[in-house]
Amino acid sequence: MREDESNIPTEEEEAKEEFFPLPLAVMQPGTTAPIDLYLYEHDPPRYLLYKRAATPLTDEIRQRLLDNGVEELYVRTEDEDAFYEYVEEQIHAIMADDLLPLDQAVPIVYQTGIRTMKTVLEDPRSGENVKKAAKVVEPIVDAVLKSEDPVADITSLIAHDYYTYTHCMNVCVLLVAASRELLGISQQTPLRTIGLGALLHDLGKSRISEDILNKPGKLTEEEFAEIKRHPEYGLELARRYVSLTDTAARIMKNHHEHYDGSGYPDGLEGDQIHPVVRLSTVVDVYDALTTKRPYAPASTPYEALTIMAEKMKGHFGLNELRGFIRFLGPRDEMRDTREAD
Ligand SMILES: [Fe+2]
Ligand SMILES: [Fe+2]
Repeated sequence: MREDESNIPTEEEEAKEEFFPLPLAVMQPGTTAPIDLYLYEHDPPRYLLYKRAATPLTDEIRQRLLDNGVEELYVRTEDEDAFYEYVEEQIHAIMADDLLPLDQAVPIVYQTGIRTMKTVLEDPRSGENVKKAAKVVEPIVDAVLKSEDPVADITSLIAHDYYTYTHCMNVCVLLVAASRELLGISQQTPLRTIGLGALLHDLGKSRISEDILNKPGKLTEEEFAEIKRHPEYGLELARRYVSLTDTAARIMKNHHEHYDGSGYPDGLEGDQIHPVVRLSTVVDVYDALTTKRPYAPASTPYEALTIMAEKMKGHFGLNELRGFIRFLGPRDEMRDTREAD
């Protein structure tokens, strides 16, 4: 078969192709994204190839689409990886684009971050990967600072799968947003520091066997001792590739300390634990409990906070736990659960 023929999809192949939508404003003028872009036509319903991968997107093209009322473009599902690589590269321009409303930018930042964290945790010995994590934090902090209601904008899109990379991303967005609201931290630099510590907090789990991490039954003493090493493993790994501030390092090392001193690895208690770290322990447990794990079902937000306030009493600083409950207050799910009571 000649090469040009092999590239042309038959009608049948075209029909089988799947697409996902993206806001037009994600595609930045002056760039050449390595993906074909499609338009959706309603009558007859079909996807029309609008721009081939190699053609640059110009201001004129974007403007013409806008003038024609086009708000969304479509990308083939098979081009998803290439699309997210493009977004990763262009994230600063995308976040700064006035045409893209924050509620449309945030899900893209979140999904891009999750994909980056997946590669970080799959291959944490790649310095390049760990350095990428530092870049993920920047648009998250931008989004939290721009948002008038970070809880609504951010927590509503949080995924509850059991992957460590999703959990790291969730703890990052929740901790950055909660630190801003509850600790009054509103400068980019300290929020980025907090975000990086949170994003990498479970990096050390990449050194622990999946069999132990996902064991459905009770852990043996040795297995638990191994799990307890993940904060220090993570810190050691991260320090090889990125420079960590004191706060970021403390989040990584001490996110399993308990207010009553029963945590690990240092057995710190009360005020010995940095206030941001005390908040990180609340966020960490909350995200874990609301996530379905191989050894336990997912709790609703209300159930999770009840477990934390009752069964896990003593693990958390009261101020941090109460503050976090307040922080989550406007969530619909929370309201629904309370109304149902
Ligand atoms: Fe952890
Ligand atoms: Fe964690």
